[in-house]
Amino acid sequence: MAERRSSIHGQWSSKFVFILAATGSAVGLGNIWKFPYITGDNGGGAFVLVYLLCILVIGIPIMMAEVMLGRRGRQSPINTMATLAREAGASPYWKWIGWMGVIAGFLILSYYSVIAGWALAYVFRAASGAFTGVGGEEVQGMFSRLVSDPERLLAWHTLFMVMTTVVVARGVRGGLEKAVRILMPLLFAILVILVGYAMNTGHFEQGLQFLFRPDFGKLSADGVLVAMGHAFFTLSLGMGAIMVYGSYLPEKASIAGTTLTIALLDTLVAILAAVAIFPIVFANGLEPGAGPGLIFQTMPIAFGQMPGGILFGTLFFMLLVFAAWTSAISLIEPAVAWLVENHGYRRFTAAMLVGGLSWCLGLLTVFSFNLLENFMPLGFLGAFHDKTFFALFDYVTANIMLPLGGLLIAIFAGWALKREHSVDELRLGDGLVYRSWYFLIRYVTPVAVGLVFLDITGLLDIGGLLGFLFQGPWQA
Ligand code: PHE
Repeated sequence: MAERRSSIHGQWSSKFVFILAATGSAVGLGNIWKFPYITGDNGGGAFVLVYLLCILVIGIPIMMAEVMLGRRGRQSPINTMATLAREAGASPYWKWIGWMGVIAGFLILSYYSVIAGWALAYVFRAASGAFTGVGGEEVQGMFSRLVSDPERLLAWHTLFMVMTTVVVARGVRGGLEKAVRILMPLLFAILVILVGYAMNTGHFEQGLQFLFRPDFGKLSADGVLVAMGHAFFTLSLGMGAIMVYGSYLPEKASIAGTTLTIALLDTLVAILAAVAIFPIVFANGLEPGAGPGLIFQTMPIAFGQMPGGILFGTLFFMLLVFAAWTSAISLIEPAVAWLVENHGYRRFTAAMLVGGLSWCLGLLTVFSFNLLENFMPLGFLGAFHDKTFFALFDYVTANIMLPLGGLLIAIFAGWALKREHSVDELRLGDGLVYRSWYFLIRYVTPVAVGLVFLDITGLLDIGGLLGFLFQGPWQA
């Protein structure tokens, strides 16, 4: 057995704390803001099904691989990949996975912070009673007044980035552990309350049908890619966030068990959010494909009508900010850990630097909703002709960079790393569970990611294929 390394950044105090932190990273805007709106954009059920399949055959095996590589390397993803590649006698270029991850995290944070800023703004609106009795048109107006004002967006973006940088500067353990322990269950509870409200809208069934009755005719090739990209995004995979958290994981903790818990919680939160939102959408004659503003144009109606709506509304947006916060922290941790390891930066300086640069880039997202709303930077490229800076950052990171990073991680863990090393690190013995994982990560996962990439080129029709497989029995 190779000698065990330890991390210079410290370790989680227990396996339980790792689960909390990793769930904190996974559960965020992706679950509550992004999942419902991309589901609405892509026609519902068939999209949800592909997303769930991706979580199962791609997300979970890759998450295990990331945690495993992180714990074995015990450094920032860049150095972990470099060390493990050297040990495995593989090419030093594997460390570029780490680099691509750092860049993806930095790009994601730039827009993530702007959207989290919307949630911050809504905390104050909810608390002031601004939602009382509002209807569809008023909430739409309220939302467009916010995003069309660059100054306000800038202020909230700045506040959120400062919050993120401060926590990362102090070290991601400590305060985070305690906060996640209380606030995560609270977020869960409030989502359940919202689902309860949705049940009484009279459109609950319509919402469920939209979400769970697959109609593959509505799923485009691009929709399949978005579903897979979102599996990576929502589980924080493919860019080193989970790897760096894994590098702080205590020796004895079981990687398979923790991974399953995290993936399950993450999926549950996303499904709850969607189940709460769509009945409200249908009950109020709103558009499921309303885009990134969807939750900001639906939830306020519910809060405006339910008893205790001011309290619940305020709490909901506070918890959303909190969920975004614990995710944002993990987006810059890989870069910060690297700056500390390789350049001797203090955590504080490293966090300020990365947060500051990401803040600057975030200005392009701020302007994507107002001054530059009609500016499509890659308008000359067919696939990107309708994408603002914000849409472009989101698309390129979630649908290209993360899946590519994840694909490479799977190939490294399944093919480059020696089998005895993954047996040793996963601590599952060489039984059925290990073998299933090994089979998935070597064959199924890489092929699945490859097929989705192929699908987008038009050479393959996954939507059509799944439609053929599922539609028949479903309707019989
Ligand atoms: N998983 C987070 C969310 O769903 C976003 C995220 C992506 C965080 C990648 C870290 C890394 O909101």
